[in-house]
Amino acid sequence: MILVVDFGSQTTHLIGRRIKDLGIDIKIIYPQRTLLAIKKEKTLGIILSGGPSSVYEKNAPTIDKKIFSLNIPILGICYGLQLTAHLLGGKVVSGKKEYGPTMLTIKDEKLKIKDKLPRQFTVWMSHGDEVVKLPKGFKTIGSSVGVPFAFVENKDKKIYGLQFHPEVEHTAYGLQILSNFVDICNLKSGSNIQEKFKVKEIEDNIKRIVGEKDYVIGAVSGGVDSTVAGTLTAKAIGKRFIPIYVNNGLMRKGTGEHVVKIFKEIGIKPLVINAVGEMLRRLKKITDSESKRKIIGNFYIEIFEREMKKLLAKKIPVKFLLQGTIYSDAIESQGTKHSAKIKSHHNVGGLPKKMKLTLLEPVRDFYKDEVREIGRELGLPEEFILKQPFPGPGYAVRIRGEVTKERLEMEKKADEIVLSELEKSGIPNIFMSFPVMTGVYSTAVKGDGRQFGEVVALRIVESKDIMTSTWSRIPYGILQKISSRIVNEVPDVSRVVYDITTKPPATMEWE
Ligand code: XMP
Repeated sequence: MILVVDFGSQTTHLIGRRIKDLGIDIKIIYPQRTLLAIKKEKTLGIILSGGPSSVYEKNAPTIDKKIFSLNIPILGICYGLQLTAHLLGGKVVSGKKEYGPTMLTIKDEKLKIKDKLPRQFTVWMSHGDEVVKLPKGFKTIGSSVGVPFAFVENKDKKIYGLQFHPEVEHTAYGLQILSNFVDICNLKSGSNIQEKFKVKEIEDNIKRIVGEKDYVIGAVSGGVDSTVAGTLTAKAIGKRFIPIYVNNGLMRKGTGEHVVKIFKEIGIKPLVINAVGEMLRRLKKITDSESKRKIIGNFYIEIFEREMKKLLAKKIPVKFLLQGTIYSDAIESQGTKHSAKIKSHHNVGGLPKKMKLTLLEPVRDFYKDEVREIGRELGLPEEFILKQPFPGPGYAVRIRGEVTKERLEMEKKADEIVLSELEKSGIPNIFMSFPVMTGVYSTAVKGDGRQFGEVVALRIVESKDIMTSTWSRIPYGILQKISSRIVNEVPDVSRVVYDITTKPPATMEWE
């Protein structure tokens, strides 16, 4: 197997997924356990992940230098490369930052690690430090304009380093580099790339966790993740699963009806709870995004526990709360020992510390594209599978600052315009599209008078697994139409701007 050493990167688990997709067994371990793991497992390769630390920082995670002399091929990615250079006598400097796409040019030499790679291709960077001097025995394979040591190797020791991220969807040929590394490790890659998900295994697992008599209530939002999680649970335990949809006024129009329809098709009637007024009252005067998520997460749990109590009073033994948490939600809310918190997703970091219900999260280890694939295997309709993801806290995280009734109405109206114009245009591959009420105000001239109104930002992105995204190259004519409609039809908007930032560094949502 290949050991993936986790230095806290947002994408460590994704590295593991890519290697597994190549048909190779992996194990993700913390750095201090590496030598022990090598002794225990038949280790044919080691990947050192990225991470948010700086090698010179006090308490920065490190690794025993012995691993570099065990004759096992090693691939250091980002922090993994910097740590390798640092431990073997190279030099790393802080503050040499680069985020997002850049062009990599590689040398014209026949090397196993660069097999089947073109001379130039786009790679994605996300780093704050950089190697400025290589250790003895290393040489450069590829460079970008800003990073001379972007792709390096020590051929004799079979140690390789990448400053960019081969595991992310937007690095062209990233999978090829990983596959080349797997070959160098003498493992055979490419065997089960298209392996089907083991739906039956997930269902059996749900049955095992829930047991023979307990009930599960499900937090369903009408999105793909919670519907897939709900369908799996319904298949596993039948009528002992009770989906609950909370209408908090922050969801897209028609979501409630959609939830009822989709569960009706599998023979289950969800409970619909109306909480519109109360939700807005709780969000009054709240401007901080983390606080908003925590208030919403706590409010949801309060409602689910209230419903649990009612069901218990009717002698229905409810014990579990199903959530459609997926891997990207979990890792952004600080999912591993060395990783940084990006935002507290309402269903992970936004939950109260003490809960009466036990969480059941059958798709927590999967990425969005994998959850969609499971949905297909469950027979969910394709137009539903390809539905845009919508955050649990809904419009609240698309309105910077306080969520007032007026600004919520503005956001909803603008959202409808964006959705309908994009739908009419038939542009493919849009992963998410939405307006953001930015909380920034600017001057406009409307009907010869001055107006000081809010700036709306448009965010339209393409992605598969949520870990990275690019902004969509929407034709100007369509952007113009959307902009004109928003400034004309949504009151108090002074201008519309288009967000052209990749993830990383910008997250998809503004909050
Ligand atoms: P970011 O903005 O972190 O978003 O790049 C990644 C995906 O997660 C969604 N998102 C959330 N989903 N609760 C959720 O259920 C949350 O608190 C939350 N915050 C962001 C976002 O819409 C995107 O699909």
